[in-house]
Amino acid sequence: MKFGHFDDANREYVIETPRTPYPWINYLGTQGFFSLISNTAGGYSFYKDARLRRITRYRYNNVPIDMGGRYFYINDNGTIWNPGWSPVKTELDAYECRHGMGYTIITGKKNDLKAQVTFFVPQDYDGEVQQVVLTNEGSATKTFKFWSFAEWCLWDAQDDCTNFQRNFSTGRVEIKDSTIYHKTEYRDRRNHFAFYSVNDKIDGYDTDRDTFIGLYNGFHNPQQVLDGKCGNSLADGWSPIASHYKEITLKAGESKTLVFILGYVEMPVEKKFEADGKTINKEKALAMIEKYNTPEKFAAGMKELRAYWDKLLGILNVNTPEDKVNRMVNIWNQYQCMVTFNLSRSASYFESGIGRGMGFRDSNQDILGFVHQIPDRARERLIDIASTQLEDGGCYHQYQPLTKKGNADIGGDFSDDPLWMILSVSSYIKETGDWSILDAKVPYDNDESKAKSMLDHLTVSFYHIVNNLGPHGLPLAMRADWNDCINLSCFSDTPGESFQTYTNPKFKNEGGYSKIAESVFVAALFTYVGPNFVGILNHLGKADEAKKAQAEIDKMKKVMMDSAWDGNWFMRAYDANGQKMGSKECEEGQIFIEPQGFAIMSDIDKDATKKTLAAIDERLNTKHGLVLNNPAFSKYYVQYGEISTYPGGYKENAGIFTHNNAWIICAAAYAGEGDQAFKYYSEIAPAYTEETSDLHKTEPYVYGQMIGGKDAGSDIGQTGKNFGQGKNSWLTGTAAWNMVAISQYILGIQPDFDGLKVDPSIPATWDGFTATRLFRGAKYNITIKNPSHVCKGVKSMVVDGAAVDGCVVPYVEGKKEVNVEITLG
Ligand code: BGC
Ligand code: NOJ
Repeated sequence: MKFGHFDDANREYVIETPRTPYPWINYLGTQGFFSLISNTAGGYSFYKDARLRRITRYRYNNVPIDMGGRYFYINDNGTIWNPGWSPVKTELDAYECRHGMGYTIITGKKNDLKAQVTFFVPQDYDGEVQQVVLTNEGSATKTFKFWSFAEWCLWDAQDDCTNFQRNFSTGRVEIKDSTIYHKTEYRDRRNHFAFYSVNDKIDGYDTDRDTFIGLYNGFHNPQQVLDGKCGNSLADGWSPIASHYKEITLKAGESKTLVFILGYVEMPVEKKFEADGKTINKEKALAMIEKYNTPEKFAAGMKELRAYWDKLLGILNVNTPEDKVNRMVNIWNQYQCMVTFNLSRSASYFESGIGRGMGFRDSNQDILGFVHQIPDRARERLIDIASTQLEDGGCYHQYQPLTKKGNADIGGDFSDDPLWMILSVSSYIKETGDWSILDAKVPYDNDESKAKSMLDHLTVSFYHIVNNLGPHGLPLAMRADWNDCINLSCFSDTPGESFQTYTNPKFKNEGGYSKIAESVFVAALFTYVGPNFVGILNHLGKADEAKKAQAEIDKMKKVMMDSAWDGNWFMRAYDANGQKMGSKECEEGQIFIEPQGFAIMSDIDKDATKKTLAAIDERLNTKHGLVLNNPAFSKYYVQYGEISTYPGGYKENAGIFTHNNAWIICAAAYAGEGDQAFKYYSEIAPAYTEETSDLHKTEPYVYGQMIGGKDAGSDIGQTGKNFGQGKNSWLTGTAAWNMVAISQYILGIQPDFDGLKVDPSIPATWDGFTATRLFRGAKYNITIKNPSHVCKGVKSMVVDGAAVDGCVVPYVEGKKEVNVEITLG
């Protein structure tokens, strides 16, 4: 069942009912000011850091769901409603929500009154602009009452929802003309405030929540709205809000447009106040308001936003026989990559914004799907990330976006972290040809005095693996690898201990983790990523160093075949007792997905590749995607850590973790199995799950981290219960990796050090496809023909009329347009 439809021409998803199976959200803003907005206008805003600069308040895991947002209330002669249906939930005569690229339009209609609200965050602007168009579609004059509503968060979102003994006394506002200013702590240590304005005279306001809503009422029945008035309240502690009140009369057919702005302002200390030393200096706020306070200015801002996305989405455009692929590649997957690049795993409807900063491994992987959009921002991010690295190649697992400093609470020793940086820096160079990044001086541990070249960072990353091998010569597993929940040194039996940071006394003297437990996943990642490092060294003319690195890779491949090949697939690990994990010899968890894809793409052994792909298809594949492991763990294995704390079929315990589905899609495509790759792709790509949105639950336009696996429900004796149900949408490495899987491996358009490589691995039924790709200043017009209906194999390539060997289009400086015609066969 569907709850809406794609409008590809406008790049929108159109939601047709407010009762979606879960709130379906969108993100506004790509630079500093961000808003989350659901299809009923729930959500919140923050500036840069969802924890430390939260602007509006939100209630997670609330009953009913999705409470807190920007709400407009209408009281039309006793009929009370919101344009977005919630929170009043009066049945509307018409409802529609259009989530587009950086904007959302919600339209509601009741008793001939139509209210259309458009929300967006303009470019280079620290605020959310909201345009409300009210139209009387009836034949008689209408007089009704209208309120806006936003609830301020007292800046630190964590403190805001815990420290009531203090917070109920600090809240402060100021009201001037039609603007309500939120200035809690501005008098003392904060140099920032927020405001909510409207471009029209108001008939009153409220800034005290209890006055507006009533202590025993809810968002669904605010007392002032019920009474058809406002309280003109001035908040003094408790919970400050911003609500404008207006009485409106519209003749038949008449419309009224109001523009609201929810803004954030930082002030230099010496300019914070007016002469009285108390009143906010509003200069900057007024200038912000001035920028968008008419429908014309609003329209201009929207036009600019569209142009921004036209440009970004103009970089890669494909035309394949599958509309759903085109829709994912040309619109939604790229859009989601921008969001994950900006927010890492911090703020969504599943990430509270108070838990995590930027993840080292997460942000490096996010770059893979984003780098072609704005390479300069990717470069800056790479340098930020690398600056948190430690001199021995180890890494802080997370850093805070506001301070850009490594997060000591979480610490390091996640065995895979350093490798992702080699991959992300390589992908930046492949995209841009900008080798100079390797010379950039980048600090270690944010200490400028320890700055060395980026190449040095890559070198210590590579050797951090080589220098930390276990008894079989495989990399040590440490606290965790990509799988946060495989914690082989933890042995935790105490509730509440963090599996990732708890140090078992057993291993205290060994540096915090077992020197026996080894990760086959990291080994496979090493052999996949390593050749990029070798390629870089060769390009720099460092042949000896390249040789030395290659020897390490070759050695690791041998170790994998000797000690990690299980007969039909690669094992997952050796645990701290030296026992096999992810082997046919195990009672449960005999096969894991993670190492398989990277092992295949490392060309370790042809026969192993074949067998592995077959085992994956047989043991891991389902109609809703590939499960992470099989059989699911049905009890707690203390030696494995967090993984078996999840009931079977969920999360890392045999859930369909879409992130590493992408690795298998890449691997199958790489191995020439285009049909198999595409099958897995279409099992999880959101455009394909749209038809079963009732089951899938989360947004049909973006990936979620996890889909319930075939074992979901097994723990309660109802195996299959939530099989196919999505969770944790938006902020997942799946966005970047599936962008890579579909565009670089299936469609095969892959930036390489020496130029653009085009080597598709598609379903054999396809006749071919076309694509355009802007790459290093030139536009590549690509035509793929598949007359013999094969999956993979470039039979001939013609570049600007001349035959070229291989499948890498040689890069020619200064060329503006390149025509590439490829025939498969
Ligand atoms: C989750 C992982 C997540 C980790 C973050 C675990 O509980 O299952 O998906 O990466 O927490 O620390
Ligand atoms: C989510 C985390 O953000 C990511 O870093 C990790 O690799 C996966 N979970 C798997 O545990």
